[in-house]
Amino acid sequence: MNIEKVMVVGAGTMGSGIAQVVAEAGYPVVLADIEECLVVRGLARVKSNIEKKVSKGKLKPEEMHTILDRIQITEDVAVGKDCSLVIEAITEDLKAKEELFRKLDSICDASTIFASNTSTLSITKMASATKRPDKFIGLHFFNPAPVMALVEITKGMLTSDETLEVAKAFALSVGKSPVLVNEAPGFIVNRILLPMINEACYELMEGVASAEDIDAAMKLGANHPIGPLALADLIGLDVCVYIMEILHSELGEDKYRPCPLLRKMVRAGKLGRKTGEGFFKYGS
Ligand code: CAA
Repeated sequence: MNIEKVMVVGAGTMGSGIAQVVAEAGYPVVLADIEECLVVRGLARVKSNIEKKVSKGKLKPEEMHTILDRIQITEDVAVGKDCSLVIEAITEDLKAKEELFRKLDSICDASTIFASNTSTLSITKMASATKRPDKFIGLHFFNPAPVMALVEITKGMLTSDETLEVAKAFALSVGKSPVLVNEAPGFIVNRILLPMINEACYELMEGVASAEDIDAAMKLGANHPIGPLALADLIGLDVCVYIMEILHSELGEDKYRPCPLLRKMVRAGKLGRKTGEGFFKYGS
């Protein structure tokens, strides 16, 4: 089976980034969200990213228009009923995701493959909300999606080998490097990355070092492109807590307990880049 057209549901940072990657690879894309302002903002984010590429000479101006013309925005997922692949990138809320997939299951053709960009939730559980668990898979892109090379492809318990092969070919066709994961909380990356970020928060909470020095140490001493606290700000502190909670409840070990400082900052509304402040402050 070939993927001809793709719908991305959720036009936030991840959804719009994925839509950009897919459109740049030549696929027609439907970008859907529940409110007009959300899809308009998502498309504006794509346009701004592509304009930067044009200004750096990485794309020709006419290519920009071709890419943008491939993206159709909508508030109605039924517009994407003829898509051969749907990638869900909505909020990390299992109930909301199940509800969306139940709806998509009744709208889309029986051959359509459903993929979730979830960073940690169970693919098998989401697939069980549909009558096509064999055509359900995890396609986890990384932030910022247009830049990061990896896609984790997660097989749920009932995902067919054919779906896996199609997903792998698709990831390669959009210029990403896929790795295969057998479903497990946090998949490969977040199970390693989030405890590291959490530990950096403990170091800060215990006064081991300042936020600046913790990040400088990991950049200079471990060659990370940005420090763990700046990375938490990029991911979103609320998302970090959520992933740690899933790791903690699913794997049951104290080492996954979310750092109290992280929780406190989320309660204070300091969520990172998206609110203008997390461990560091960001301009508008
Ligand atoms: N969208 C699109 N492109 C972006 C971008 C964005 N948000 N941010 C940066 N870029 C592009 C820039 O335009 C630039 O492109 P060119 O090389 O073509 O000029 C390139 O990325 C490098 O950007 P900068 O020079 O401005 O900045 P940088 O060198 O600091 O790189 C970065 C930025 C690539 C994001 C780098 O800081 C980095 O790698 N950070 C770590 C990112 C990371 O670990 N992401 C994974 C998060 S975990 C996750 O996503 C999983 C999850 O489920 C939580």
